[in-house]
Amino acid sequence: VTSRRVFSGIQPTGSLHLGNYFGAVQKWVELQNLGGDTIFSIVDMHSITLPQDPNVLQNNVLKVTASLIACGIDPEKSVIFQQSKVSQHAELCWVLGCLTTMARLAHLPQFKEKSATLKEVPLGLYLYPVLQCADILLYRATEVPVGEDQVQHLQLAQHLAKAFNNRFGYTFPIPRAVVGDTNVCRVKSLRDPSKKMSKSDVDSKSRIDLCDSPEIILDKCQKALTDFQSAITFEPEHRAGVSNLISIHSLFTGQEPCNICKEYSDIDTGKYKLVVANVIQDYLKPIRERTEKLMADPLYLQEILEQGSRKARSMAEETWQDVRKRIGF
Ligand code: ADP
Ligand code: NA
Repeated sequence: VTSRRVFSGIQPTGSLHLGNYFGAVQKWVELQNLGGDTIFSIVDMHSITLPQDPNVLQNNVLKVTASLIACGIDPEKSVIFQQSKVSQHAELCWVLGCLTTMARLAHLPQFKEKSATLKEVPLGLYLYPVLQCADILLYRATEVPVGEDQVQHLQLAQHLAKAFNNRFGYTFPIPRAVVGDTNVCRVKSLRDPSKKMSKSDVDSKSRIDLCDSPEIILDKCQKALTDFQSAITFEPEHRAGVSNLISIHSLFTGQEPCNICKEYSDIDTGKYKLVVANVIQDYLKPIRERTEKLMADPLYLQEILEQGSRKARSMAEETWQDVRKRIGF
């Protein structure tokens, strides 16, 4: 029996938003508190698949670290580390890249989506899912808590683990995706609810960041796109905007969408936006305050990352030594 080992990653491309929180980080905290190894990587190598300003990137690594701790990731219970500090990620990526095909990578929906808007597609963007597989397999992870948008990438990791095991002998457990309830877990953009809420969206009003001030939260909720109907009804297919607000409300309070609709049957969408803003403001206040406190102490955050990278490196090295022997390096 392999014991449970949880791995997941998050990009340091700015503040965390509600999608990251409900799609990933909240689950991470739950799994951390169940015991077993939990390993969380700030995947800076992934973020340079699109251009990044070096100073901003460095600061964002600290910001994401602070956010994760503020959300309940405990550096005593989990390993938090910076991907680029563990060189084995790139080494294993190369090996795995040699076990897959260009056709397979070209089919992945996230690549299609991200490359569609670019004239010149960086090779890194294409290879990104393979690096993600390396991230997971390097720690011989058994469970990978991710948002619904990552399921296909997890299937690639399963495929590559099997392909490697078949060719070179059993080395990697087959990792399993841990995905939340897909009805509510895909948090949508507030401005275009046909898209997911994302850090890479140029319209910052499309997402609520965990560190947004109460005023900004209110403003973004008020500017959220809804339709010309004023009733509060949960119909994700036909009324994506108001349904997204109800989903978010439901994620914060644990109330079922249908109960929320009953409770607010006598107000219109304009007033309902104020209700949702209020719920978000109250919930995020302590997270924002803890993040600000942590950001005031960058040396502490650097020390956490140092420690985490040391632990990650020693686990990664163990796997890598095994891999290189098996492939004849
Ligand atoms: P982004 O897509 O905003 O750049 P990342 O790629 O860093 O965020 O994703 C970090 C984690 O957050 C992943 O597990 C991803 O599945 C999850 N996630 C991101 N956006 C959403 C969303 N809108 N709804 C649910 N989960 C999400
Ligand atoms: Na993503």
